[in-house]
Amino acid sequence: MKLCISLDLPTAKENLELVKKIKNFDVWLKVGFRSYIRDGKKFLEDLKAINPDFKIFLDLKLYDIPNTMADAAEEIAKFGLVDMFNVHASSGVNAMTTVMNRIKDIPNKPLVLAVTALTSFDNDSFKEIYNQDIASKATQFAKDTFISKIDGVVCSAYESLDIKNNTSENFITLCPGIRPFGEDSGDQKRVADLQFSKENKVDFIVVGRPVYKSDKPREVVEKILANI
Ligand code: C5P
Repeated sequence: MKLCISLDLPTAKENLELVKKIKNFDVWLKVGFRSYIRDGKKFLEDLKAINPDFKIFLDLKLYDIPNTMADAAEEIAKFGLVDMFNVHASSGVNAMTTVMNRIKDIPNKPLVLAVTALTSFDNDSFKEIYNQDIASKATQFAKDTFISKIDGVVCSAYESLDIKNNTSENFITLCPGIRPFGEDSGDQKRVADLQFSKENKVDFIVVGRPVYKSDKPREVVEKILANI
């Protein structure tokens, strides 16, 4: 299991200070809307400058018509800085296949994941939109993702095992909403701790606020790594 830390702080300076504190750890860094919209590609370069071995997950959740998604995916892959990025599974098999075909020959192409159900949904709010329970729809999205030759999915730890059983053991599951030692869940609804994540064969845990809001982020990361 790998640890991926969300860099969702209000300024690039604060994010970079956090990253410097954890620069000797074997972790992935997740750059999402907030940081990427504000700080762009330069921020990715600054992260790699702190430690070139950091792996970067660009969490922009692409969702558009197939050609527009493939254009964006191609630009991301050509950066040569991004190790993993994501799209929405609800964009459909055609869009996801178009993305994978477009980037297949780019050297060092990043891993690609597809978002199934956001971890901020509880079952009722999810059903209002998709008219189906989270568990069954997330697995359906995962099967669509798998046949599109995408590398894995973003899901909650509650769906990880069922998704692997319905696709492949090697199909990556990346799970946000992780509260390693039972910390406050914030706006996340389907939260899980480290033990549950391990039992459910999660490949990547994403941890944001429990690390970046802590006064001692280094210690928190060290403790998480010691327990995974
Ligand atoms: O602070 P917290 O640990 O809840 O952060 C979770 C991170 O994972 C946030 O950056 C959020 O955007 C992201 N994320 C998520 N649920 C998804 C996909 C990404 O919470 N399905």
